[in-house]
Amino acid sequence: MIDQYGRTIDYMRLSVTDLCNLRCIYCMPSEGVTKRNHQDILSVEEIEEIVQTAASLGIHKIRLTGGEPLVRRGIEEIVARVANVSGIDEVALTTNGILLPEKIDFLKQAGVTRINISLDTLNENLYREITRGGELADALRGIEAVLAAGMLPLKINAVLIGGVNDEQIVQLVELTKNEEVHLRFIELMPMGQCVDWNQERFISADTVLKKIPALHFIGRQGVANVYRQEGYKGTVGLINPVSNHFCESCNRIRVTADGKMKPCLHSHDEIVLKGLHGKALFDTMKQAIYEKPCSHHLDSDTGSDSARDMYSIGG
Ligand code: 5AD
Ligand code: SF4
Repeated sequence: MIDQYGRTIDYMRLSVTDLCNLRCIYCMPSEGVTKRNHQDILSVEEIEEIVQTAASLGIHKIRLTGGEPLVRRGIEEIVARVANVSGIDEVALTTNGILLPEKIDFLKQAGVTRINISLDTLNENLYREITRGGELADALRGIEAVLAAGMLPLKINAVLIGGVNDEQIVQLVELTKNEEVHLRFIELMPMGQCVDWNQERFISADTVLKKIPALHFIGRQGVANVYRQEGYKGTVGLINPVSNHFCESCNRIRVTADGKMKPCLHSHDEIVLKGLHGKALFDTMKQAIYEKPCSHHLDSDTGSDSARDMYSIGG
């Protein structure tokens, strides 16, 4: 449907859990994440009804997120049901990749069309540091599994953190050399865990162009400016949520694992969907989409207005 500012809203990001098997420094606290009660998280049936309602309001694409969506018990059934909703023609998944080797066949068969893997470094020690204990080899096996399943192009998302992984840019871009990999560098957004971080950690995605002058612009794709290195099979996208707002072309809404709609990632506003059914759910979602805020005011020294960390919103 079309919101009050004339934007077509056809994409919903749905978090299926706020739990994760990693603890990325910018996303989660090192400890003290309390598991929500089972009844506070959307059930498979509730997810299905929200997606059906969204589809009737003109949502065509669903992205399942977390936390880490693959740690949710019953993720297989969620995927299968969401993919079966009429009107939904794309079901994508954002994951850290760790559990992909064991889940990929099912995901593919159940109707997942696209997978995005989050990977911020190719250095084992740095991976352990950023994820607080994760193993790079596990994430790489996840990437291999997607390539082997032929689910191409594979998107790999890297969050740039000044002084932490900016020395990894060249190595990460090498991932695009021989495979149809769409690597995307995303600016770190000041929210939750990293809201008070030093300014030096917030670097523009355009830093990548300074490091690799051989990248040439090939076009815009959604919210990314896309580049290619001569002779490379894949591409490099730069996503600038901080230095260059794209609110005027935003086409998405979000639903958290506990059943609240967030019409804007960086807004305080949350609309309770859990507990609503039928016409009440439809009317509430319709109004929330229509009233989606015009823009956010995020820049590197004013943090997000959202009260949540990314893991509890859905990345
Ligand atoms: N800024 C930008 N991206 C973030 N993510 C988590 N927190 C932030 C942040 N503050 C990303 C993760 C992953 C996705 C789920 O969200 O790196 O790619
Ligand atoms: Fe988990 Fe993703 Fe957050 Fe890392 S960024 S802790 S993988 S949800």
